[in-house]
Amino acid sequence: MAPPLIDHLSEDAIARLVDEFYTRIRADAALGPVFERAIPGDWGPHLATMRNFWSSVMLTSGRYMGNPVAAHSRVAGIEIGMFDHWLALFEATCRDLFEPGIAVEFQTKAVRIAGSLKLSLFYRPDRPWPPDRLKGVTPA
Ligand code: HEM
Repeated sequence: MAPPLIDHLSEDAIARLVDEFYTRIRADAALGPVFERAIPGDWGPHLATMRNFWSSVMLTSGRYMGNPVAAHSRVAGIEIGMFDHWLALFEATCRDLFEPGIAVEFQTKAVRIAGSLKLSLFYRPDRPWPPDRLKGVTPA
């Protein structure tokens, strides 16, 4: 039987999410290879960074100090079209682990952050920006 859904946000709950999400990412045919290329060795530091990141976002703990735009601009093979797939995997993981209200809170944040990452990484003023790519992007 599946374990009960988590109904309380905590560092422990975030650690469970991060472990499960990146297990699924690594097994994913489209995203797995991109991540494995960028993180060929020990995944411990990435998982720790991601626990800090989600702790800062969801619990305003201030534990994350990094620069996601700079980090993603170094990821070889990252494409704008991969973001919807990333978000779908993240949403399914949250739904499998958390009560619906918590799952929605995570997904709302993820969509917003993905939108701003997409803009920072891929927007060029001299190129058209198709409306379907604007999902999650809040106008200034
Ligand atoms: C196509 C989608 C994405 C891909 C392929 C991707 C890939 C990666 C990879 C490979 C790293 C590790 C970089 C390294 O250590 O050298 C990374 C780091 C990270 N990712 Fe993503 N990512 C994606 C979307 C997202 C989204 C939507 C979020 C947030 C909601 C996110 C948050 C982060 C954060 C916070 C880090 C750590 C950055 C740091 O080192 O401080 N990523 N990502």
